[in-house]
This record gives sequence, C-alpha cells and structure tokens, in this order.
Amino acid sequence: MRILVLGSGAREHAILLALKGEDAGHELFAAPGNAGIAADAAIAAGLDPNDPTAVTDYANDENIDLVIIGPEAPLVAGVADALRERGIPVFGPGRAAAQLEGSKAFAKRIMDAAGVPTGRATRATTRAEVEAALDEYGATYVVKADGLAAGKGVVVTDDRAAALDHADTYLPTGPVLVEEFLSGPEVSLFFVSDGDTVRPLAPAQDFKRAYDGDAGPNTGGMGAYSPLPWLAERFGSEQAFVDEVTRTVAEPVIRELDAEGTPFIGLLYAGLIVTDQGIKVIEFNARFGDPETQVVLARMTSPLSRLLLAAAGGFLEDEPAPTFADTAAITVVLASEGYPESPHVGRPITGLVDAAGIPGIHLAHAATAESERGLIATGGRVINVVATGTSFTVARVRAYAAVRHIALEGSHYRTDIAARAAAD
Ligand code: AMP
Ligand code: GLY
Repeated sequence: MRILVLGSGAREHAILLALKGEDAGHELFAAPGNAGIAADAAIAAGLDPNDPTAVTDYANDENIDLVIIGPEAPLVAGVADALRERGIPVFGPGRAAAQLEGSKAFAKRIMDAAGVPTGRATRATTRAEVEAALDEYGATYVVKADGLAAGKGVVVTDDRAAALDHADTYLPTGPVLVEEFLSGPEVSLFFVSDGDTVRPLAPAQDFKRAYDGDAGPNTGGMGAYSPLPWLAERFGSEQAFVDEVTRTVAEPVIRELDAEGTPFIGLLYAGLIVTDQGIKVIEFNARFGDPETQVVLARMTSPLSRLLLAAAGGFLEDEPAPTFADTAAITVVLASEGYPESPHVGRPITGLVDAAGIPGIHLAHAATAESERGLIATGGRVINVVATGTSFTVARVRAYAAVRHIALEGSHYRTDIAARAAAD
C-alpha cells in the first residue's frame, strides 16, 4: 500500500514504524516529518499538512491508497473532508466531527445527547457566570478554554483567584467551561471507528506533569505505559473495563454523531477518570494520543494498516478485532532544557545508535532535524524511548539504560514512568 502520514511528532513516527514493521512492502510517505520520520518514509517536501487542496492534490498525484492524519490541526482545517470528496481513503474525521476535540462545549453536548457519563459543566461567557459556576461546584476548580489551546487551555486549582485569572485570559476570545472536579486515576482508551462500527485498542496512561512524582507544570505528556495492571484488579479484568467503556462511551458517541449527520471516521480518544462513582469522560480527542500511541502500538500484534484502511473504507465490521501482546510497554520522553515553558532548541543530540541497540528498544523521534552539525533538537519533546519487556521491571531497566545513552545538553526526563506498575 502507498500510505501518507500527516504530522511530524513521535506519534506519527510510531505509526510509521508500526506500518514498516508489518513487513508488507508498504511505500510510506510523510509530511512534514522530522529526522526520524525522514529515515523511515519519503518526505513530501513542501507539503503543508493543513492545506486541504494541497494534500488532496498530492495524494491524487502520488496514487496514495490511504492517508492517516496524525495531529488535530489538519482535521480542524477540513483536510479529511477534502480527501473524502475526492474519493481518497482517509483515516481521520471531517471538520464537523473533529469538533469533538476542537470544542469542549460541542463534546459536552454530544455526551449529554448520548447519555455518556461525564462531570457536570457550565459554559460561561461573562466573569459573573464564571464566578457563579466556581461557587456552585466548589474547590477543586476546573476551568477550560473552549477550543484548541495547545494543551494550555486547562487549569485545575484549589486557588479561586487563579481559576478566575485563567477564565479572564480566555473570556475576551470566547466562552470558557467551568467543570466539576473529577477525582481518580486517568486512563486513555482509543477506539477506531468507520462511523458505525467501533473497535477498542488497549488502555494506556500518560504522565502529564513535567517532573517526577507528578510535580511541575502540565506538558503534552512525558511518558506512558500499557497495559494498566491496576485496571484488571479494579474491574476483574482489563477486558471488562474495555467492554464497559465501549458500551457506555464509545458506541453511544459514534451513534450520536452518525445520527447528527457527522459520522466519525477515525480515532476516538476517550480521556477517562475512574472515579468512585464510576468511569467518567474528561475529554475526547479526535486523533491518536501522544505519547500513549507509542506504547499501544508497541503491543499491537495485528496489522495497523488493515485496521485503519477498513475504518477509512467503511468495512470495519468485516475486519477482525485488533490484538495486543501480553508484554509491558513503556515510553520515556526526553525533553529539552526549559520544556514546557521555553525549550532551548538547536542543540546536538548524540548516542541514539547505542540507545537503539538495547534489546526491546525503539526510538520515536518527536522534534529532531538533521543539520550540518548532525542531529539537533528542534522543540520541547525531542525523543521517545519506547521499551517492551516481559514485565514492567524489565521494560523500565531497558528504557532507562537507553535514555542514559542519549546526550542532549540540559535535557530532562521523568525517572518514575510505570514505577508503580513495576512495583505491583
Ligand atoms: P483536557 O485538556 O481536557 O485534556 O485536560 C487536561 C488535564 O486536566 C486532564 O488530563 C486532567 O488531568 C485534568 N482535568 C481536566 N478536566 C478535569 C476534571 N473535570 N477533573 C479533574 N481533572 C481534570
Ligand atoms: N496524551 C495527551 C494527548 O495526546 O492529548
């Protein structure tokens, strides 16, 4: 198959590595790419992944059999709609269904209509409405910008003044959501859908805070692991948990979007909190999560290309459900000095060959480029070290041995990824 992957992060590199690993002789294309992606796919030079016409022309000229959209920006820009109009198979929802991620108010409305369990929320357009909602729900306060805010749109705080400040930042540009605080462990569960049929992948958990022990600022994700041993304990089996979320969350949402004439063809990312009152949704994304994808795909034993093509083509019902190995997978993100506030970029990275030489390790590049000085870091999250093993203890030993081979001045990483899972 000739497959084009849009996006340039570790998630896209992990998707390409999974496709390459199928050993099916795929021809892989990517835009815009990074140094790791350039080593595993042909880069579509100059192609703007957010330009619907340019992407469609490229896919048409290159006889692409399947386009996989990685990040949210091309979805919201309508790239999937344009491809579908031209009859090119694309894995990724159209602009309307991608609102599930792009607009938190839209997501809440769909959840209400579909009867999906979630926290209470109030949409506020004035400071007075925000204050009333904060007082109604009480501390801990959760305030979110409505719309894409690149991970900076949410504040969770016990400080009412800080919650109000956050609302003040976004109120001039649009509504904010004040939410009931949900307490409990988080789970990311991904579903592949063709707009009708829904297939779950394996649960994963990411580490959002910058430093060990969940200290420091929120980030795009500093690491992840899968499976989640504590889920099996709590629900009897991991499958029982997956079945419940499929039935109470994914299927009703996919049905509702279909009924509204905006079928969701792509990856439904359910961000869940396991509260004492049951499983509740905190957010949806309309794309694979990063860095959870890196560990979920590391465990996947059935071909990714067939699954995504079946979703894109509307014949997911005929495709066997995806399967996952019983191995432990973890990923540790190496970040630039100053990430997330103001990452230093342009510094050389060395040691990748030695790191990748450790058994059970592969590297997913996030923000790297080749320069005259060799490989350099071009952003905050730079490299994902992905490790598999027969246990979390083994996977952790491998991952951290690999990370220590990589040299990037000032860089940092969390040392406690899956530490609790290893101790269980
Ligand atoms: P979001 O941008 O909606 O993904 O939120 C980012 C993070 O903020 C989530 O992963 C949670 O850790 C936290 N969060 C968001 N909403 C809530 C909520 N209602 N209760 C507790 N934590 C939340
Ligand atoms: N891991 C969080 C996200 O992909 O949004």
